[in-house]
Amino acid sequence: MIVAATFAETRRLGSGIVGLVPTMGFLHEGHLSLIARSSASNDTTIVSLFVNPTQFDDPADLERYPRNFERDRDLAFSAGADVLFAPDESEMYPREPLASVVVRQLTDHMEGSLRPGHFEGVATVVAKLFAGIQPDVAYFGRKDAQQVSVVTTMARDLSFPVQIEPGATIREYDGLALSSRNVFLSDADREQALEISSGLFAASDLIDDGETDAARIEAACLDRIGDLDLEYVQLADQATAQPLDRLDRPAFLAVAGSVGATRLIDNVAIDRMNGQWVVDRGERLAERSMLYGENDAAGS
Ligand code: PAF
Repeated sequence: MIVAATFAETRRLGSGIVGLVPTMGFLHEGHLSLIARSSASNDTTIVSLFVNPTQFDDPADLERYPRNFERDRDLAFSAGADVLFAPDESEMYPREPLASVVVRQLTDHMEGSLRPGHFEGVATVVAKLFAGIQPDVAYFGRKDAQQVSVVTTMARDLSFPVQIEPGATIREYDGLALSSRNVFLSDADREQALEISSGLFAASDLIDDGETDAARIEAACLDRIGDLDLEYVQLADQATAQPLDRLDRPAFLAVAGSVGATRLIDNVAIDRMNGQWVVDRGERLAERSMLYGENDAAGS
């Protein structure tokens, strides 16, 4: 269990098959399930912890993002991490960068159009992690479905010899998708935030019944959304993140919206199995997640 602050040291510590779990910290059961998966399948598991400023389109959001190093270090090691790579900004961006990674088309819609520069920041920092650490496998949560498509395409198009492993969306016992930003939600906010997962589950039930028309699937989700400040409900191609009119290939149904000042995203993944569309609604915790009661720990 070692904390490393440089790429060179982190690379030296990775022996055998190396799994990487990139994070921005304030870990929860979603991150821990990725770390445990990596630890069960690889010789070395490296968790990176870096709140990447270049992927925030709003400086206030960056400022407010929850941080607690000791908490994250202890959680990462207890879940099976061997190395915690926690660089400071000068290791990650030693100078004002002139090069960056842009993934075209996949970033035209949803998060890409609403958060200008976000995916350029994500693709660039993930490319730097891949180049600097040289993992064999990298794990990303499916909750960020468009991010999974962007990172997978980036790794393939730039020939990074790394296998991308998406991990299930982990949900609260009541369905709310886990996100580090949930620590900002009051009890009343959480109730309102449940409109998102409840909409996604209603649409999933319709897909289970055989519906493939995107407008009707999206309408079933929209029906459950009342007070939430909705940004989009979109059925999109899993590989290209392009909007779909009809469910005719592996897809995800994505929702984004804000509760007060807190922006939330969620989705369900839809794959074809034995000639039928099967919806992956994620995995529910039996009890409240570790994020409950963490409002005080955030920001310390
Ligand atoms: O999903 C995240 O936490 C971030 O976007 C990532 C992949 C760690 C890059 O900063």
